[in-house]
Amino acid sequence: MTISDVIKKRRTIKSFKPDPVRESELLFWLETASYAPNHRLNEPWEILIVGAETRSKLNHKKDFGGAPVVLAILSKPAGTPFERDENVMAVSCFVQNFMLAAHEAGAGVYWSSMGNLPQNRDILGVAPEYDVVGVLGIGYPAEVPAAKPRTPIASKISYLA
Ligand SMILES: Cc1cc2nc3c(=O)[nH]c(=O)nc-3n(C[C@H](O)[C@H](O)[C@H](O)COP(=O)(O)O)c2cc1C
Repeated sequence: MTISDVIKKRRTIKSFKPDPVRESELLFWLETASYAPNHRLNEPWEILIVGAETRSKLNHKKDFGGAPVVLAILSKPAGTPFERDENVMAVSCFVQNFMLAAHEAGAGVYWSSMGNLPQNRDILGVAPEYDVVGVLGIGYPAEVPAAKPRTPIASKISYLA
């Protein structure tokens, strides 16, 4: 697969097989993800591996579609609102890299933003100065949905003098 194929064929997966994900594979995808661009090389991502008890408290859609692994991806505190935004941007790049590395290996990811809701932040035990960029269900897809067509990109482009 070319990089363009990997990008275009990745789908949000909401139903997983029970097959486990090897820890070495998971770490490889995370390590790959860490090559995301990030300002001042501050590597603002932190990863929580969510265990069964926390997962049941989160009580997310059919237990994250039966995903064998659930991670919460946090963005580190920053000194200013501008830098905090930068951190969230870099962590978003990290998550996209992670999803693409997993997809290349035949796995799939469900990215949910529910982790940043106040009650879910409490369940995850996240300090106020952190952002929860996503809670990810990860595993091997039981179902792959059809691609959702995108708006022609030309309609998103404006020209400045
Ligand atoms: C920041 C972010 C938050 C998301 N949160 C949710 C979510 O809470 N629930 C959900 O069903 N999908 C969520 N998604 C996944 C989108 O719904 C999905 O990417 C979109 O429908 C396009 O489908 P595709 O990923 O298969 O191309 C999120 C995606 C992003 C980037």
